[in-house]
Amino acid sequence: SADPSAFSLPPMAELHCHLEGTVSPAMAMKLGARHGMDLQGLLDAHGAYAWDNFHEFLASYDAMAKAIQTPEDYFDITYDYYAAMARRGLIYGESFVSPDHGQYHGLSYPTLIDAISAAMQKAEADFGITARIILIAVRHYGVERAKAVAELAHRHPHPMVVGFGMGGDEHYLHPADFKQAFARAADAGLGLTCHAGEVMGPESIKATIDALAVSRIGHGVRAIEDPALVDELRDKGIVLELCPGSNVALGVYPERSTHPLAALIQSGLKITLNSDDPPFFHTDIEQEYRNASLFESLDAADLRQLTRQAISAAFCDDKTKQRLL
Ligand code: ADE
Ligand code: ZN
Repeated sequence: SADPSAFSLPPMAELHCHLEGTVSPAMAMKLGARHGMDLQGLLDAHGAYAWDNFHEFLASYDAMAKAIQTPEDYFDITYDYYAAMARRGLIYGESFVSPDHGQYHGLSYPTLIDAISAAMQKAEADFGITARIILIAVRHYGVERAKAVAELAHRHPHPMVVGFGMGGDEHYLHPADFKQAFARAADAGLGLTCHAGEVMGPESIKATIDALAVSRIGHGVRAIEDPALVDELRDKGIVLELCPGSNVALGVYPERSTHPLAALIQSGLKITLNSDDPPFFHTDIEQEYRNASLFESLDAADLRQLTRQAISAAFCDDKTKQRLL
């Protein structure tokens, strides 16, 4: 079995990480101070984000995100994240960015995207890390706002914006309700992904791939409960953005040792490792790679293969992929 301390990790890539969800408690307090907001109530006695279940997590996330207000704030959180992860060995990352959160404080879409892109480009210049943006609609904000996000992408094409996705409360509405939003995003040339099979079961993944032309599923971990669905995902080459640490933190699985990552790999599905909302779930991409060597006995070559899988499923252009592969 692989001893994670016995080899250095290969270069890493990640496809599923929410930009607002990368803000550490320390950074949140800094932003709070910048804007005269008291965010202490979001933290527990140990200074970690306090939440007890999926809905509380989403509420805590939304409350923290209200402290991200200006182009400078967006620049700082983006640069902080990619600088820190580049030092750990991340070579490519896609960040989910929610224009709904940005617009809450009146930031226009182009201003928001310019600030994040500038930070990504500075991180690339300083550390050689490549990053791209996936616009994300928030499911519990409803169909009209999801369509509005897709419309923004359509109206303002930007080289750093390469994908469209949807997160938020999976219990709310049906994937088919979002057909128009996803079709509009596809028409803008964006890659498509959607959270499914995280807090709901395989039927939610099936409904998603039936309704929406996604090439990746956010999480999708519970596909393992339905062999026919596993076959369909494999046949269609749909890639799973797995986030084991997030799943354990949210109680989808009681502990890391019972996570079905090994079975998903065995099933021949295309899978990737991701951190989702690192400080909320007490993880980061390096931890996810290390845990895969610890719990699933993946060795350096296996982990390198996961990085290759992520880059080949990335939404950036082929020339960028070639450079990274
Ligand atoms: N938004 C941020 N993190 C999320 C998650 N794990 N599931 C659904 N929506 C999210
Ligand atoms: Zn997510």
